[in-house]
Amino acid sequence: MSISKDINKKGYVTAHLDNGKNIIAEIDRLKKEKNAIILAHYYQQEEIQDIADYIGDSLGLAQEASKTTADVILFAGVHFMGETAKILNPTKKVIIPDLNAGCSLADSAPTDKFKAFLKNYPNYTVISYINCSAEIKALSDIICTSSNAVKIVESLPKDEKIIFAPDINLGRYVAKKTGRNMVLWDGACEVHIEISTDKLQFLRGKYPNAKLIAHPECQENILNEADFIGSTTALLKFVKEDSATEYIVATEVGIIHKMKQSVPSKILIPAPANTNNTCACSECPYMKLNTLEKIHASLVHLQPEIFVPEDIRLKALKSVNRMLELS
Ligand code: 13P
Ligand code: SF4
Repeated sequence: MSISKDINKKGYVTAHLDNGKNIIAEIDRLKKEKNAIILAHYYQQEEIQDIADYIGDSLGLAQEASKTTADVILFAGVHFMGETAKILNPTKKVIIPDLNAGCSLADSAPTDKFKAFLKNYPNYTVISYINCSAEIKALSDIICTSSNAVKIVESLPKDEKIIFAPDINLGRYVAKKTGRNMVLWDGACEVHIEISTDKLQFLRGKYPNAKLIAHPECQENILNEADFIGSTTALLKFVKEDSATEYIVATEVGIIHKMKQSVPSKILIPAPANTNNTCACSECPYMKLNTLEKIHASLVHLQPEIFVPEDIRLKALKSVNRMLELS
């Protein structure tokens, strides 16, 4: 099946199926027929964000997945997000538009290496960022996201021995904020660490009044310079509530869409990447694998489906639930 696209007067992309039906209307019809909900992350393509029933950061999405009454959850995000939804909803069908939508950060913590690493640290509490596989969640005591990591670390006694995985940049940031001396796993997000410091300096010179706002997955030198650091939802809230009018946004470019809708009069400049891609900004290649066409096909076939082995799911559920209770 193929789709054609045109731009209507409002500037929105209207996509049609080859049988002439509008793809958005068809997705809507299928959602009702199958009692499905679409959860989307801010890094999704704009047209996907615009049709989602809920759009949010990793914490918001996990919370939404934990309370939905839908029979089918279509997760427009990446694989670990679909897994988290399945961990919370074993009897529901969880589908994602493209099984290849992985995550470099989740991949930076392979299960066998992580298991071996943990053997060196008996009696440590393992806090893992939600950007990890179900197996890593099952080996962890508590999960966190970028919006609650500081709170979760601070909920533990001051003398608690902590391992923080898999993101070293978020780990360093949380260690600095909380004053805790944590053992950090050496993983990173390929998108956030590719933000170019040199090109950023050039932009800061060009826009001297712009505030730099950054996601904590960015490298330390960028975080040290930032006027505000937070999860995608926190960055969005900041530009809405702050009095400045210009911002350089150091995270994946998808967040700019909701920011523009919320504060149309402000100037929002995506931070540049080292790689010379088409947008000259930071794009997550995994998030961008999802398309309206794939979402339509997933709803028609209720595939690709996410499965988590029950023994892993039960262990992972404990650490995810601990996070939800503390959030
Ligand atoms: P948040 O939306 O929780 O800030 O996470 C960003 C991210 O990298 C998701 O993959
Ligand atoms: Fe993973 Fe980074 Fe993409 Fe988020 S932006 S899904 S952490 S690779």
